[in-house]
Amino acid sequence: MNKITAAITAVGAYVPDYVLSNQVLETMVDTNDEWITSRTGIKERRILKDKDKGTSFLAIKAAQDLLQKSGTKPEDIDMVLLATATPDMPVAATAVYVATQIGAVNAFAYDLQAACSSFLYGMSTAAAYIQSGRYKKVLLVGADKMSSIIDYTDRATCIIFGDGAGAVLFEPNEEGYGLQDEYLRSDGIGREYLKIDAGGSLLPASEETVANKQHYVFQDGKTVFKYAVSNMADVSEKIMNRNNLSHDDVDWLIAHQANKRIIDATASRMNLDDSKVLVNIEKYGNTTSATLPLLLSDYEHQFKKGDNLVFASFGGGFTWGSIYLKWAYDKK
Ligand code: UT7
Repeated sequence: MNKITAAITAVGAYVPDYVLSNQVLETMVDTNDEWITSRTGIKERRILKDKDKGTSFLAIKAAQDLLQKSGTKPEDIDMVLLATATPDMPVAATAVYVATQIGAVNAFAYDLQAACSSFLYGMSTAAAYIQSGRYKKVLLVGADKMSSIIDYTDRATCIIFGDGAGAVLFEPNEEGYGLQDEYLRSDGIGREYLKIDAGGSLLPASEETVANKQHYVFQDGKTVFKYAVSNMADVSEKIMNRNNLSHDDVDWLIAHQANKRIIDATASRMNLDDSKVLVNIEKYGNTTSATLPLLLSDYEHQFKKGDNLVFASFGGGFTWGSIYLKWAYDKK
């Protein structure tokens, strides 16, 4: 029997309708379209306005989009993994609710949190379950309602993040398509630079933490930028070298959409032509766990069976890494 690899066989996505443009942000904080565009590449982001809807709403929509497009029966799914930094609630995994709501009645489910690398790490986890031979259909969803943890008076963060969700299905493949290699890293030095101080076991919620705005994302952008640029480029170069991939062999770079300048730096280290570098940050901003699957969804029609995809991410923690995957299908 041939070796089992874990292939992506379907993609789905969802973004909320409301568009928060740079022009609207100009009326909210001291910023301007020129600064945001030149420093980040972002023009607009989507925001889930409904107060009574959390990340599960986005995740369910993306999962349903995948099920509908691929004709997958939800009862055939073995496992639902939700990559997210913004679960509906601190306790009671959001993935479990999502699985039940989409009708994945035979699946088990849990959340995976590694900030902006949640989806990349989730790909590794999902693929490992498939490669082990234990499960046949693993649904990996990346979803974040970043607007629920952003202070819209803080111009350092509110211009960056947006809400969104994407989903992929991993299935066994015996022709060698799917995940080929991964290089995942983390370093706890990063937790001071990108974090939410309160609401966890270290600093539980109190009147004081609310008054001090400690439930919002804090980011030391300059420091995170420095680490992101060098580390994302390092791992991407490493995965190319380890797999003897020249820049001609790489068909697509699918990089976390945090800042266009970080993506460009990674592409430049890989010596990749711009046409191979997938970008949609201008439309969605940084959607944390949803950036990679939203790229897959937006560009799926261009992928050919056998294409070499390099995924890369960098996020809070710090967490980062790169994955080399062979695309498994031509879109009908
Ligand atoms: O996804 C997880 C990982 N996260 C990342 O990878 C994000 C990494 N960091 C970044 O992308 C960038 O650091 C930011 C986009 C967050 C900031 O860009 P920057 O080029 O590092 O700007 P800066 O923080 O160094 O600020 C430069 C100047 C400052 O003014 P002075 O001190 O030079 O007078 C800021 O006060 O720009 C000012 N500034 C702004 N001006 C207009 C900061 N934010 C804004 C703003 N609008 N929104």
